[in-house]
Amino acid sequence: MLRISSSSEIYQLLEKYKAQGKSVGFTPTMGALHAGHHSLIQLSKSHNDITICSIFVNPTQFNNADDLTKYPRTVEADCQGLEKIGCDIVFLPTIGEMYPGGEENFEVELDLKGLDTLMEGEHRPGHFAGVVQVVKRLLDIVPATMLYMGQKDYQQFTIIRHMITTLEIETDLVVCPIVREEDGLAMSSRNTRLTANHRERASIIYKTLIKAKESISNSSIKTIQADAMSAMNIPGFEPEYFTIINGHTLETIESISGVKEVVACTAVWAGEVRLIDNMRLIVKDETSTT
Ligand code: PAF
Repeated sequence: MLRISSSSEIYQLLEKYKAQGKSVGFTPTMGALHAGHHSLIQLSKSHNDITICSIFVNPTQFNNADDLTKYPRTVEADCQGLEKIGCDIVFLPTIGEMYPGGEENFEVELDLKGLDTLMEGEHRPGHFAGVVQVVKRLLDIVPATMLYMGQKDYQQFTIIRHMITTLEIETDLVVCPIVREEDGLAMSSRNTRLTANHRERASIIYKTLIKAKESISNSSIKTIQADAMSAMNIPGFEPEYFTIINGHTLETIESISGVKEVVACTAVWAGEVRLIDNMRLIVKDETSTT
């Protein structure tokens, strides 16, 4: 596996591959890689000639300086894992390489149409503008044929899909299913920060999503949301939101009638750790997110 830190070097290499007619699959990450990330790389490998993963902890998407400092950095172990699963290139840029002259030089002019202010946006102001900025910059450096992102960050992929469509970026977005632990907890680099006690009971989130899926055709949305909030209100856990949305607009819905993709999204505090998860409850148009 090649390790590249220079943006001009990786850009030139990829241009060469593309001129040879080779397809390039790209997974951007912030490191602390787990089986969920590996599933994106493996899917990319099955579709493309060349597979690239980037590891860059992007400061512009953290609205809390403490979170940025505490973010796990495990680059050596990440690279070993990537090598094992056959990733071809890992891109490891520095902040200076990503934002030469300062991040303000790389602001993206894009109306997010309010997609960034709902759900996660309410709790993390400025977060999605930072995600848009870094993914746009990464795609300028790594002009990928296909871009792989996880469904775990549902709002993030919806916003990136909006960016790709609006800015007419020539890459196909592939959204990969959530990878879960045996008890249903969605894989996340944050799970390692859970206490044993919280970890043991964290499957309540998955169970609640399953219950919502079972109830969606015969209960009102208001009832499902209220029941979910109280089901997750167990000792040590504090549900922040459980919202049933239109998967395209991210708006909360009152009825499922006419909605092609119905998704339940939730954020829950398990002690000091904030976990997010989601589940598609109804999908009428399978091609809509891939
Ligand atoms: O999902 C993530 O890890 C990050 O938000 C991303 C897409 C790599 C941008 O920094």
